[in-house]
Amino acid sequence: PVSLPGAQAQGRFPDRTITIIVPFAAGGPTDVVARQLGEAMGRDLGVSVVSENVTGAGGTIGGQRVAQARSDGYTLLLGNIGVATAPSLYRNLPYDVLKSFDTVGLITPVPMTLVARPNIPAANLPELVAWLKRPGAEVNIGHAGLGSASHLCATLLRSLLQTPMTPIAFRGTAPIMTELMAGRLDLTCDQTTNTVPYIQDNRVRAFATTTDQRLAALPNLPTAAEGGLPGLTVTVWHGFYVPAGTPRPVIDRLSQALRTALADEKVVTRFAELATTPEPADRATPEAHRALLEAEVARWRPIIQSAGEYAD
Ligand code: MLT
Repeated sequence: PVSLPGAQAQGRFPDRTITIIVPFAAGGPTDVVARQLGEAMGRDLGVSVVSENVTGAGGTIGGQRVAQARSDGYTLLLGNIGVATAPSLYRNLPYDVLKSFDTVGLITPVPMTLVARPNIPAANLPELVAWLKRPGAEVNIGHAGLGSASHLCATLLRSLLQTPMTPIAFRGTAPIMTELMAGRLDLTCDQTTNTVPYIQDNRVRAFATTTDQRLAALPNLPTAAEGGLPGLTVTVWHGFYVPAGTPRPVIDRLSQALRTALADEKVVTRFAELATTPEPADRATPEAHRALLEAEVARWRPIIQSAGEYAD
């Protein structure tokens, strides 16, 4: 534990359970990463690190919970790329992404996969594209709410194909897998940290990865470029946030625990099975995370404005 200086010296940090707010549904990609990290960080910090799912509105309900929490290091947000798109998408976002949070460090860059219900009448990406673009097609695509990673990928796919699809919002991508397996939903683009086990068991049909190279965990799955859609490239970055004003020694202790967890053999192995990797130590820092967050907020603003999609 670290001792806190001066007026902040309420004791040593941490001395009780830390909660990671997961802004999406239990069992999904964010939740999977939070549970892996929580366990390993807890071992380093000497306290329990538990997850709580606070879902809705593309992750912004969970964001609001953390923005309004005490600045004491006991409430963390595990946010993905959507943290940086929310300020452009939500006109009435109840917090300011750049002012309401302090960054702790980047966690993992996760590839995505284009997956469909198992009985979709297409065997590969070119056939899927032809099916999606057939005259009179009525296709739906699931996502985890405006600005979520799956929503960004679905938006990119629709713009690349220039074909209408009906987006359907869920509280995370875990429930989307259930709908795909039941054949009630056609398609989604979701992170490997959720989809790999479903793809390996043929419970959903996979068409492409959104990476430049094939994934070691899914060697038979072509890249989108191999399937004729080179523009479908997305990687989903993740980071830990605490409420702004958290004492620097507390942030540093959390950041150190993050780096220890990312080097943990169990975490490295599980991430590899799920086709992702831990961020290197020099990116799992408050400064590297802050720099990426600022760059991403600026990068997405014009893209989202030109797409003209907003939520109030
Ligand atoms: C989830 O945890 O359900 C996903 O990360 C949501 C998303 O697509 O951003």
